[in-house]
Amino acid sequence: MNELRIAVLVGSTRAARRGPAVASWVAEAARRHPDLAGARVDIVDVADAELPLLDEPVPAIAGDYRNPHTVRWAETVRSYDAFVVVTPVHNASYPASLKNAIDYLYAEWNGAVVGLVGYGAHGGTRAIDHLRTVFAEVKAITLAQEVSLEIFGDFDFSDADPTDRTAIGRVAPRPQQVEALHALLGAVAAWARPRAAVAA
Ligand SMILES: Cc1cc2nc3c(=O)[nH]c(=O)nc-3n(C[C@H](O)[C@H](O)[C@H](O)COP(=O)(O)O)c2cc1C
Repeated sequence: MNELRIAVLVGSTRAARRGPAVASWVAEAARRHPDLAGARVDIVDVADAELPLLDEPVPAIAGDYRNPHTVRWAETVRSYDAFVVVTPVHNASYPASLKNAIDYLYAEWNGAVVGLVGYGAHGGTRAIDHLRTVFAEVKAITLAQEVSLEIFGDFDFSDADPTDRTAIGRVAPRPQQVEALHALLGAVAAWARPRAAVAA
């Protein structure tokens, strides 16, 4: 039996972003989740993929990737069975960096199980809702369970300088958020299969 490979995907790329802190919270919970015992859990940062704005000459559905950054990104995505996508809300949706990273590929997303964790000043649902539509188009399977963190309800700024506009805060989720993440990770465990085993 192959081990399940799970990527916690950081979708935002700006300086002083909160994405890595949220991703660490998710990854630690995944590594402790009893249903995911034996799974490999990695944090994959879209920023590290160094993808320019989509520059492939052929649409991804053809699978004719020409650029080394695309080939590398395809290999990365193909190496995971499931994704927990960590997305902020940027202007009532998810960030352009995440759309760009999704649009680069097609077959590599097919059949991938995707859990969605959003965060924003007013929670993450607007980003999550838009991502469901996009992931459906690349035939990924989004889970109903989701987590929506509020910046002023689920982060602790007590150690931050109040004049520092770049303060990230510390992820301090309310109990219902911990429960929501536990349920989401349980759904990942229930639905995800090593893709090598189910490839058509
Ligand atoms: C360009 C931009 C637009 C934003 N728009 C919204 C918004 O529409 N709704 C919301 O609740 N929060 C919004 N926020 C607040 C962000 O969700 C919050 O700052 C979050 O930490 C941004 O994610 P990041 O730190 O990973 O970039 C916005 C932030 C940025 C940078």
